[in-house]
Amino acid sequence: MSLLDTPLCELLGVEFPIVQAPMANNALPALAAAVSAAGALGSIGGAALSADELRAAIREVRETTDRPFAVNLFAPPYLREGTLEVVLEERPHVFSFTFGVVDPAPLREVGIVVLGTATTTEEALALERAGADAVVAQGTEAGGHRGSFLDGFPLVPLAELVPACADAVSVPVVAAGGIVDGARIAQLLRLGAAGVSLGTAFLFTPEAGRPPEHLEALRSLETVVTDAYTGRPMRAARTPVLEELMAGPSPLPFPEQRKVAAEKGQLFMGGTGASQGRELAAAELVRLLVEEAEAAVSSYSD
Ligand SMILES: Cc1cc2nc3c(=O)[nH]c(=O)nc-3n(C[C@H](O)[C@H](O)[C@H](O)COP(=O)(O)O)c2cc1C
Repeated sequence: MSLLDTPLCELLGVEFPIVQAPMANNALPALAAAVSAAGALGSIGGAALSADELRAAIREVRETTDRPFAVNLFAPPYLREGTLEVVLEERPHVFSFTFGVVDPAPLREVGIVVLGTATTTEEALALERAGADAVVAQGTEAGGHRGSFLDGFPLVPLAELVPACADAVSVPVVAAGGIVDGARIAQLLRLGAAGVSLGTAFLFTPEAGRPPEHLEALRSLETVVTDAYTGRPMRAARTPVLEELMAGPSPLPFPEQRKVAAEKGQLFMGGTGASQGRELAAAELVRLLVEEAEAAVSSYSD
């Protein structure tokens, strides 16, 4: 058994308490398949897919691995028609959501483990009350959109959010935001996390299929949280396009602003750890993260 074994491993049906964060529009199904096959939990970021496309993505992952993986969607009103029905029919081992609350009851009834995203302890409590099996605590460091759904868009650093959520709820807490190496994974487990979720770190694997411009922007620029690109706060590389939008007029509501912004240029989402991303195959990255985290955990007990 791995030194990293926590109750989350049994809940998710994985060897290591590591989740590849869902990244809609930013990662191919091949990434989820490779991560799951390596003993962690791969995720299909399905929010931008049609029902048929989502079903095809799920089947593609299943052609590579019979290990558990997650499907992720946005909560209403951002849920695309027919996609939750596909999840109920295809029954991935895990379903995760962000931007609100998806009622876990019908999913749990068919045996799916349900994870919700929180950016404060209040949101974590709301998700636990709604019946989520575990809560993803998304710190201010996280790349991509903020999952906030109760009161504005708070920015709580992960090292504060994780222990506060672990105290507040009795379900497992999964730490997300800025994690790119195993030493940080070990620290967060020590702070009360039952597992971790890494998005940006996996953008650097070939299986994600990101274009070189994305990786170059993440390597060379700082990241910033702004609503200027999509109308909803998210963390991305501070490119000249984003700078221009940040200096411009107030954005339209999410997601309409994205259409206006896309005419100016591309967006490269990523978290605070982006400049330390390592270009490795997904399975190798999982192996390395586990090795580093196990070394750090055993040094604590020396
Ligand atoms: C490019 C990108 C796209 C993302 N898309 C989603 C998504 O579709 N659904 C979701 O729940 N979270 C999404 N996130 C947020 C991740 O779930 C997670 O909170 C974040 O990646 C953790 O921070 P890190 O990127 O620093 O590891 C996205 C993050 C990134 C970087």
